[in-house]
Amino acid sequence: MQLIPLTTPVVNKEMKETAVRVLENEMLVGGESVINFEESFAKYVGTDYAVSTNSGSSALLLAFYAINLNIGDKVVAPSATFIATLNGACLLGANPLFCEIGSDYVISSDLLEKILGKSQVKCVVPVHLYGYPCDMSSILDIANRKNAILIEDTAQAHGAQHKGKKVGSFGQAAIFSFYPTKNMTVGGDGGMITTNSKEIYESALKMRDVGRKTKYTHDEIGYTLRLNSVNAAIGKIQLQHLDEWNDKRRLIANTYRNKLTGVGDLILPPEEGPHDKSVYHLFVLRTKKRNLLGIWLSKNGVSTGVHYPIPVHRQPAYQKFEGKDLDFTDEWSKTVISIPIFPNLDSKDQEYIINLVTRFYDERLYEQKELKDKEKEWSNKLI
Ligand SMILES: Cc1ncc(COP(=O)(O)O)c(C=O)c1O
Repeated sequence: MQLIPLTTPVVNKEMKETAVRVLENEMLVGGESVINFEESFAKYVGTDYAVSTNSGSSALLLAFYAINLNIGDKVVAPSATFIATLNGACLLGANPLFCEIGSDYVISSDLLEKILGKSQVKCVVPVHLYGYPCDMSSILDIANRKNAILIEDTAQAHGAQHKGKKVGSFGQAAIFSFYPTKNMTVGGDGGMITTNSKEIYESALKMRDVGRKTKYTHDEIGYTLRLNSVNAAIGKIQLQHLDEWNDKRRLIANTYRNKLTGVGDLILPPEEGPHDKSVYHLFVLRTKKRNLLGIWLSKNGVSTGVHYPIPVHRQPAYQKFEGKDLDFTDEWSKTVISIPIFPNLDSKDQEYIINLVTRFYDERLYEQKELKDKEKEWSNKLI
């Protein structure tokens, strides 16, 4: 049976030809494609600067370093995210404080207020999870009032908007990931920092290039975190298609919403507010029957994902830090399931997926012994 993937990147003839052209004609590191991509990306997001990196995690590390995050500094982020969000901060010795999420799966100024009222926090990292923009105007407002620096984790939200502005342009800095499952890729790992701050820009440029001041002089202990020229050239072409691909994702999301609202115990992704534009990086359902639904879809050739079964505050690597009181985040991690969404998802395949999900509830297929027997094995794969 043919498997419908959860997601798949678009790779076209132009991208392949460009990769060959760059391989044959440019410096493979530091070629002109890198600057071209960075300039286009900054323009797209609406910031003065963009610095490309070899991953979103590297971008986070460089951004935290650039704001002088130090040992013992407190950094707030949701626990409902991919583990990389605060790894860079913790590597620099910061202490994570995890913020609860709302029913839209992102942090809000009200939830933040509870933490910022109690502690002096150096930095807040809102995550535009699943492509859904956080309410950046009110988050910016509270961060400013409490003197906290904002670094947006925009790894999943290329092109999402809040009040007519792209996310990634609100904080002192923002980071993006181009890992191949993201809304756009560079044909492998890659990342970007966007910022209006000249200091952050200059620090990131230097630190991604082994702390280099001149060709042979290094006045800081940096690292090699640069994006390769071939990847940058592919990224630039991907960026030209991003809006068109995001529009397709939104159409697919609308169809899911129209057909799956009211089915079984499903909770659909949050509707966008009047000022927001989500880019549906993932289409995430919530159900108490998450594991059985996953088994049923997989049995019928449909891939699913769980983003994320272990919230960051429950990860073994984070057990040395305080704060475990995140009831909704725990509930979220036990009930989420992502179903296929990507620009070229065929409408017949989508109809097939919708039909399978609907049948799962209408025909009470979750009672089938065959599915229940596999539940243990399936949930073991999530830990
Ligand atoms: C929310 C979030 N933050 C950070 C990252 C890290 O990006 P990368 O995988 O490119 O290092 C990712 C990537 O999966 C992510 O989804």
